[in-house]
Formats: sequence, structure tokens, C-alpha cells
Amino acid sequence: MSMDVVDLIRTKRDGGRLSDAEIDWVIEAYTGGTVADYQMSALAMAILIRGMDRHEIARWTAAMIASGERMDFSTLGRPTADKHSTGGVGDKITLPLAPLVAVFDVAVPQLSGRGLGHTGGTLDKLESIPGWRAALSNEEMLAQLDDVGAVICAAGAGLAPADKKLYALRDTTGTVEAIPLIASSIMSKKIAEGTGALVLDVKVGSGAFMKSLDQATELARTMVDLGKDAGVNTVALLTGMDTPLGLTAGNALEVRESLDVLAGGGPDDVVELTVALAREMLAAAGRPDVDPAPALADGRAMDVWRRMIAAQGGDPDAALPVAEHTHTVVAGESGYLSRMDAHAVGIAAWRLGAGRARKEDDVQAVAGVEMHAKPSDFVAAGQPLFTLHTATPERFDRALEALQGAVDYSADAVAAPGLILGRLD
Ligand code: URA
Repeated sequence: MSMDVVDLIRTKRDGGRLSDAEIDWVIEAYTGGTVADYQMSALAMAILIRGMDRHEIARWTAAMIASGERMDFSTLGRPTADKHSTGGVGDKITLPLAPLVAVFDVAVPQLSGRGLGHTGGTLDKLESIPGWRAALSNEEMLAQLDDVGAVICAAGAGLAPADKKLYALRDTTGTVEAIPLIASSIMSKKIAEGTGALVLDVKVGSGAFMKSLDQATELARTMVDLGKDAGVNTVALLTGMDTPLGLTAGNALEVRESLDVLAGGGPDDVVELTVALAREMLAAAGRPDVDPAPALADGRAMDVWRRMIAAQGGDPDAALPVAEHTHTVVAGESGYLSRMDAHAVGIAAWRLGAGRARKEDDVQAVAGVEMHAKPSDFVAAGQPLFTLHTATPERFDRALEALQGAVDYSADAVAAPGLILGRLD
């Protein structure tokens, strides 16, 4: 059936709803090139301003799934569970989480992405391990899931191609922030991937897409409903992202911190969130009574990690790259740290070379920000607060600018910021 895209744009512009047939047609026509980028960007802007109802979002998601292939893990003979984070600063949780969950005979098919802007990408982090490769064929992925139980790799080109095209367009037309478009983008990939259970980590705060708890709750509700309607057992945690997670933001720095967690140590917030998400994944996959925490302390998760890295060509014993240039920022006064702005730390890490401005850019494995204190810690004036790492020292000035005003001090003791702010199922 042929339609006129201008009619659809007008309908949405004027606050109307799109029919199933219109949604199916526009996604197919855009993927095939009949609808032009400028027309789709007008429609995306109308959706951003006018919204979509639950049925429209579900149909939009289904049409994006139908634009490509669907994976099938039913031959594995064990449950599957995946996690998706909406992205934050220092969010390396996938690295210890995937092997931890796999210890308990739940397979983890973790399709991940690269970083854009101030939030890091899991694939960029893992590529700092010598030899590790992100691209696997569907057959390689299935074989690794069967053998090791966990795989973290790039989504193949065949999965939801409509989303790949639309996400790149939204990125350059100011239309990323529409809840129907974010929810359908994330969930089309997760549903097409074929996981049986899905745990969403929806970030809230200065370093996240969603700045308020209300917005984050709406996004989480929309995604959980989409997942359940498609037969994926989906739950969401709402977690704080006003403060960076852990003590590092940057690729190799975050791998090192993840190894600390897999060795039974690491920062408390990273361990707490890893264990909480592992519990949710195991419960959603039908293992509600398992306590995953001991598997970090006794080395079982580290054993899976080593096999997972080696299966993708990485050398788990190779030294991680280290920056040639560092610069230390000290505390300007004495007191309890009451704020450390996640967005500012993310921008600083990005400017040091850890992230990319355009999809084609390379990232530095060594670049990033190391934190020596977190909110609620007492610091004395002159004590190191941040160490900046980079291969290109001319980047220090702009990174230091980003950190101006990034911390506040209090004379009185302050509580650590809340990490898990809510749960939806
Ligand atoms: N991540 C996605 O995959 N899609 C979005 O729209 C936003 C974040």
C-alpha cells in the first residue's frame, strides 16, 4: 500500500494518532529509502512534541523489529537474561554483571553499543583489552553462549535496521529525547535479540538522559510494558546518576575497576548495583532464590570473565594500556563532599579522549578521569580529588574547564547519594 508521508506528518503535527497501517508503511518506506530523511525528521519532531499512545508505541516497535532479523536462543536449553542501561558516567556494570549471572546457568546475550557524547560505551571499554573483538557472527555468538554462558558483543547489522537509520537521524535533528522514540529504539533491539528476560537500568540525574524521577519513571513504564507485551519478562530499576558510578570514567580505567569487582573488591556502589541487577536478572529468568554476591568474592565470576574475554580473542592476562600523561586536581577546601557532578566528569573524560563527538571518531583506551573521593567523603584542602589521564596533554585545559564547579563541600557530614531509587515490574 502506498501512502503520502506528508499526510502522516500533518496528522501527528495536529495531535492525531497514526494507524497500524500507517506506522507499518512509514517504517518500511523509510528503511527502504522511499521516505526521505527530511520527512522522517519532521515526523520524529512531531512525535517528540505530540507524543504517541501505548498502542502506537507498541506498533512502532513491532514495525522496527520487522525491519530486520530476530535471533533465537531456544536451542541453548537454559534461560536467557539481558540488561540494558540507558547510559551514564562510569557505568561499567555490564562488565562484571554478565559473567556473574552466567555463573548460575543463565545465559547472557549482551548486545552492547559504543559511546556517543559524554556517556561511555561498553564496546569501547572492552576494546582496551589487547586482542578483544566486538564483532561476532550470529553463529559465533550462539556457540559462545553455549560454551561460556556469556557474550558481550556488537549488534549485527541485521538487527532492527530501521532503528539504526532512525537513531542516527535523531542524533542530528534534536529528536533523541522523545520517550516513545527512546523506548521503541531500545526495546526493538532487545526484543529482536530474543532474550527471555530483560532488566532495565534507567538512570536518573545530571549524567543521564532523564534528569527527573518523573521522566525516568515514564520511560521505564513504557519500556517494561513494551517488553511484557512482546513476551519478554521485563523489570526496571531506577538508579541515581547525579554522581558518577565508581571511581573511574574512561575505557581502560573502567576495565581495571571492573576487574577489582570481579576479584571481590572494588567500589561499594559498583558492587551494590552489580549484585542488585544480577539478582533481578536471575529472578526474571526463573532463579529467584539465588544470592549472586558470593560468586564475586570466591572467583567464580572472574573465571567466566576470563573465558568470555579469551573466546573473543582477548588476552585476560595482558596489561591494560596506561596513559602517558596525567594531571592531578586537588580539593580547593576542606569539608565533606556534598556533590560531584556526573555530567561534568563525563564531559571531562570525553574531552580527554575517552569518548567521541561523531560516530566515525576513534577513542583513546587510556583517557579518562579517576576520582579519589566521592560525595559523603571528608577531604582536606590540597588532597587529590581527580587524576586526569590522556595520551594527548593538550586536552587537559578543556577537561579542567569542564570540572570547574563540579564539586561542592559541606562543613557538616552528608549522606551518600541514593543509588537504587525505585523498581517497576
Ligand atoms: N539508546 C538507544 O538505543 N536508543 C535511544 O533512542 C536512546 C538510547
